[in-house]
Amino acid sequence: MTLPLIDPAARALPKAPDRVTSSLEPPATDQHVTPWLMVVLVVVLFSGGLFGYDQGVISGALHGVRQAFALSPLLVEVVTSWVTLGALFGALVSGELADRMGRKRTVLIAGAMFTLGALVQALAPDTVVLVAGRLIIGVGVGVAAVAAPLYAAELAPSALRGRFVSAYQLAITIGIFLAYLVDGWLSDTDSWRIMLGAAAVPGLLLFAVALAAPQSPRWLMMVGRKTDAASELGRIRPGVNSQHHLDTIERSLREEGHKASWREVFDRQWRQPLLIGVGLAVFQQITGINAIIYYADQIFASAGFVTQASQTTVTTWAIGAVNVLATLIAIAYIDRLGRRKLLLTGLVGMALSLVTVGIAFQFIKTASASASVTSGPTTAGIVTLCALVCFIICFAFSMGPVVWTVINEIFPGHIRGRAVAIATAVNWGSAFLVSQFFLTVIGAIGNSLTFWLFALFCALAWVWIYFRVPETKGQSLEQIQQLWVVKT
Ligand code: BGC
Repeated sequence: MTLPLIDPAARALPKAPDRVTSSLEPPATDQHVTPWLMVVLVVVLFSGGLFGYDQGVISGALHGVRQAFALSPLLVEVVTSWVTLGALFGALVSGELADRMGRKRTVLIAGAMFTLGALVQALAPDTVVLVAGRLIIGVGVGVAAVAAPLYAAELAPSALRGRFVSAYQLAITIGIFLAYLVDGWLSDTDSWRIMLGAAAVPGLLLFAVALAAPQSPRWLMMVGRKTDAASELGRIRPGVNSQHHLDTIERSLREEGHKASWREVFDRQWRQPLLIGVGLAVFQQITGINAIIYYADQIFASAGFVTQASQTTVTTWAIGAVNVLATLIAIAYIDRLGRRKLLLTGLVGMALSLVTVGIAFQFIKTASASASVTSGPTTAGIVTLCALVCFIICFAFSMGPVVWTVINEIFPGHIRGRAVAIATAVNWGSAFLVSQFFLTVIGAIGNSLTFWLFALFCALAWVWIYFRVPETKGQSLEQIQQLWVVKT
């Protein structure tokens, strides 16, 4: 590997050369959220919320679906996992769509697909139509997962960019939490059609809000619509010096040259940001978050929470609600403390929590082997619960929001759409593998070793981030690009 290491002694992003720094709008102080920026924020919140809801809701709906269509085990897996398949595909085409049609129109398409997919699922007369609905929703999830944070990163003032993209993560967590709540409320009845169809309402709202939302001035400049870019910028951020800002974008687009082909995205010159984006996407998943999000009920069951009601309650509140609340920490601190501090601190907490869960499961194994405790959570079960809460808190202020933020800010504009799409697709692929094989791995090596394996991945992620991932706090997108120019 010939890539240069990030200099540990000067881990903050090196000052960009004068010709860039001097011409940039002063990013770190511009924190004014105008009404149109609020609209952008609403688009981001709806996109993330739908992502989280559609990801979380299936666990509760599956029971009713299985009964309604007498699904074989294979079809159960298809119904569950084809959303991920659709999302993988959606993420890949989304970069192309976002570059060709613009960020805003791409979000509109995602809103339409969320609505359509939810309705198709709710009204499905048979398995084939249901699976088609799952696939449509999945494509919507993938398209939104690329387009919404990209849109937020391009429209937010630099000083608020971390918070805008973290708001997307906050929305994902709210979506998961709502899905857990809905699953809990409707679990006794045959309400799977309502569970799956409910996403049509926010889908439609996303479509309506995106219709009114502004275009990304950066994208308008990319496609040569300078007058439109000026008027959109004036609308979104009336206080800023539009001309100055547009000049900066223009210069950075000129320096980037033409829009890159897929091959150029993999060019040696961009290998470093691509590796950072893909690496973060993989580490976010292989450190275990979705194993816990998807299988929390089963983990708590093995930890001694015997009734379904107690499992649903701890999952909803200890995982779902805590995930939402802890994401607020990231929103408050990401632009103040920076990305690296949050990532590195969070990973230490995640690793320690996972090691603790592994140790606790040693005792749980002993307890159940001796069959001494069967009627409620054991001490080891409570320790597991507390450790998982710690894990969720640490993930929610670090690897959750910060990974999406960094992925959306490190790439030069001409490859950004495609590169973000690749990182997002890799993230979905890794999520699919972890959730697909988690139970198999537990079966093969046991609970403790599985959690220690996740802890090991946290340690590897820590070392890799320490040496490879630069600090991007408070830098404009144009300044961040200078990092790769300086290093190559
Ligand atoms: C991840 C999802 C995960 C969620 C949990 C996101 O950042 O990409 O895979 O389920 O966080 O909050």
